[in-house]
Amino acid sequence: MIIEPKTRGFICLTAHPEGCKSNVLSQINYIKDHPTTNGPKRVLVIGASTGFGLASRITSAYGSNASTIGVYFEKPPSEGRPASPGYYNSAAFEDQAHKDGLYAKSINGDAFSNEIKAQTIKLIKEDLGKIDLLVYSLASPVRQHPVTGEKFKSTLKPIGQTFTNKTVDFHTGEVKDITIEPCTEEEIKNTVAVMGGEDWEFWIDALKEQDVLAEDFKTVAYSYIGPSLTKAVYRDGTIGRAKDHLEATAFKIKDQLKDIKGEAYVSVNKALVTQASSAIPVIPLYISLLYKVMKEEGIHEGCIEQIERLFNQRLYADNMPLDSEGRIRVDDWEMREDIQAKVADLWKIATTETLPEIGDLKGYAKDFFYLFGFDVEGIDYDKDVNEMVSIPGLQ
Ligand code: NAI
Ligand code: NA
Repeated sequence: MIIEPKTRGFICLTAHPEGCKSNVLSQINYIKDHPTTNGPKRVLVIGASTGFGLASRITSAYGSNASTIGVYFEKPPSEGRPASPGYYNSAAFEDQAHKDGLYAKSINGDAFSNEIKAQTIKLIKEDLGKIDLLVYSLASPVRQHPVTGEKFKSTLKPIGQTFTNKTVDFHTGEVKDITIEPCTEEEIKNTVAVMGGEDWEFWIDALKEQDVLAEDFKTVAYSYIGPSLTKAVYRDGTIGRAKDHLEATAFKIKDQLKDIKGEAYVSVNKALVTQASSAIPVIPLYISLLYKVMKEEGIHEGCIEQIERLFNQRLYADNMPLDSEGRIRVDDWEMREDIQAKVADLWKIATTETLPEIGDLKGYAKDFFYLFGFDVEGIDYDKDVNEMVSIPGLQ
């Protein structure tokens, strides 16, 4: 079929298999040029199909020849209806990995459930024995609790005060004010239940109980802090409470891993266009200004550059620099004082009229369509493609 982008609000309903494949291959090529010294060999990635999780899988496989198991939640294709992009990404990754002689298998299902955890652990036992790295990179709007069955929904709201600031609709380029009313206590609790650290800890509990964690095992989950501009709605808002919880969980897990000399970290990553971040109000305007400034300074990075730096200069480096809260920081370039000062100045003058000049709205929109395999160089979008792609290592 001919596949074109079909957008609704901040989501795109279609994805292009050839475009997704090309994106995956570029990330693979980047890592082939930047191998990890003393990298991991047996890796489990939760949230492995897009964004930072996919980049982590690629960095493991191609940076240090790791065997990888990916867990994700993606929609398969049906006749005349393309799959979700993470499905096509995983198909492309596993196909290439197998051609290159790398072990790569995956499980498509709800990582929050006990069933998917059990299925994953069975696969580890059968094929890998143990794992030496778990990357936890889930981003989900909902979670069903595996014990109580309760369903939680996360929200993106300020706490205790109304938030008003600028935002941009990157499809139209219109800059306008957005007002978000404060959340309820219940919404804080629910957001922490979805995006906090409980499920990460459940994974570690299950893996440890089944004795599939190798000596010197490491685990890392991803967090975000961001600028003062988004503080009230992000880090001081409902999602920030979930990130606080995730960060506190790292210390809890570290304690649980003492007997195997294991380590647990949260890495604070840079703001990037992913399916998760395009849904957050205010962030798209911030990102389009940030991209402009960071590109001008020659320090812009995408997911793959971020994760390569995380592995080579933090997780598997001789010395791992941590911040005062014990976190890994690869948002260090984003948070540089000069970068933030420039973005704050541009923010003040950002309007529908000025943004095309002062911001990188084009870069934002391009990255957004890129997530779905569109707007990728070298792809002929008028050509018929087979939407019924399958994932070779899917269990
Ligand atoms: P993403 O939307 O690209 O990836 C989410 C992944 O989770 C996908 O692989 C998806 O299939 C999987 N997933 C979602 N629900 C699932 C479920 N129930 N079961 C199994 N898999 C499921 O998101 P992104 O941006 O890569 O986010 C990953 C982490 O990085 C999140 O914790 C996010 O907060 C964090 N982060 C994101 C930043 C950004 O700007 N995008 C910045 C810093 C941190
Ligand atoms: Na991810």
